Amino acid sequence: MNLTLPSHATNAANPWRPRYHYTPQRHWMNDPNGLVHFDGEYHLYYQYNPQGSDWGHISWGHAISTDLVSWQELPVAIPATERVMAFSGSVVVDHANCAGFAPEGSAAPALLAFFTGFDPETKIQSQHLAYSLDRGRSYTPYAGNPVIDIGSTEFRDPKVFLHAPTRRWVMLVVAALEQQVWFYTSVNLIDWTRVSTFGPAGSADKNIWEVPELFELPIDGDATNKRWVLIVSVNHGSLWGGSGVQYFIGSFDGNHFTPDNSDTTLTLWAEHGRDFYAPITFANLPDERVLWLGWVSNWEYARELPSNPWRGQQSGVRELSLVSTPQGPRLRQRMVCEMHALLEPEPLLSLRALPAGEAVQALSQATVTGRQLMARLAVATQGLQAPIGLEFFKGGGESVRVGFDPAANCFFIDRRCSAPVFKGQSERHDGPRLLDTPEIELEVWVDGSLVELLADGGSVALTDLVYAAADASGVGLFHGDEAAQVRSLDLHAVRATMHHVSEVL
Ligand code: FRU
Repeated sequence: MNLTLPSHATNAANPWRPRYHYTPQRHWMNDPNGLVHFDGEYHLYYQYNPQGSDWGHISWGHAISTDLVSWQELPVAIPATERVMAFSGSVVVDHANCAGFAPEGSAAPALLAFFTGFDPETKIQSQHLAYSLDRGRSYTPYAGNPVIDIGSTEFRDPKVFLHAPTRRWVMLVVAALEQQVWFYTSVNLIDWTRVSTFGPAGSADKNIWEVPELFELPIDGDATNKRWVLIVSVNHGSLWGGSGVQYFIGSFDGNHFTPDNSDTTLTLWAEHGRDFYAPITFANLPDERVLWLGWVSNWEYARELPSNPWRGQQSGVRELSLVSTPQGPRLRQRMVCEMHALLEPEPLLSLRALPAGEAVQALSQATVTGRQLMARLAVATQGLQAPIGLEFFKGGGESVRVGFDPAANCFFIDRRCSAPVFKGQSERHDGPRLLDTPEIELEVWVDGSLVELLADGGSVALTDLVYAAADASGVGLFHGDEAAQVRSLDLHAVRATMHHVSEVL
């Protein structure tokens, strides 16, 4: 594909660079790995090529944060070696020293990273273990690696966690081509026994399964009413083609995951945008929250994205729960409160209870601009006939629309009108509305080239990349009926947390 890079692509102040979402200073990044909280620090490891802006030499890049929003990039934590690239995986804190890596008498536990070792020569993927005794800065490979090797070339992405009721460690690994999650258990984190298999299930497309996740969530905030949620990232055959995230709700007894719905073809998508993949949750959090983030990209075009000198960005950290809907419980994702603390306290604009026509006027009088924004829009659904929503990156006759379409009963991000610089940019992505409340609510986080929509309290999520012209930073409101009732509109600038030294290579 022939991509013409606008001249601003390498400017010192790159307008596509997210300022409050994580991007590495330079080079390629894909999946988040080993998210963990330890000793006051949140760790974000990620698939990283320390040598260039294309996928390769895959190592675990590393960043830390004390607040989940300001990330500091650190040296690579698990470097690729000639025979072992470090593919995706997870980190656990071995508080009870089950594996015995912490020196005797040491008060500090070891951090254990489980990842897929990919051998570029044989193409074999096997599960490896490495431990850290320096607060997650560096990892020493376990001398007996691999800990699981079935001689497969499509067997990866170990997720390890402690299952408290059975007091055993559990590992999920995907058999990617079989569309299966394999479950293992262990008492010492080194010797693993296979105990069950889940899948194929859900989307019947000819896709592969990657990056499994499993966690328990309360329904409607009721801690006595919890369900387990199994996550599988699927590639090629997702909603809009390419990568996507499926989930299953059910029970887990420490060995088997059993979905609540006996219809194994039922497909639930965690996200309805095109750019949210391989999300995983944080381990060892100091509170009861379940938090995750995902890679904001899609294998369909990840290698062609025009950002420079970095390629790859992570989503905001989202708090997960389950919400009751007429169709049953569904995943809900809300931006963590730490992110809300980044909003400039004085809103750029705040409107209450007025018809859409007047809201448009108020917005144009206020001449709000920005590429680091959070907007919240609530609109009455009664009598709503035509699509309504917000426009971002407005300029030169173009904009990106984020809204609600009453005829289709869905939320959408429409990036058709933005400069088409990569495959898939000229699309509208729809996420069906799940709740039946008297008003729709959009919460939109915009950051350089990234749009996250968490609608109706996070019961519908859409994330899309958008590469708009450098000077396109206007904000507007679109509607098909001036009388549509805008209940509220609040627009805030979001403070930058990521400061990159220079954008020029
Ligand atoms: C998912 C994935 C994983 C693999 C990693 C390689 O995006 O394909 O299955 O471990 O990326 O970088």
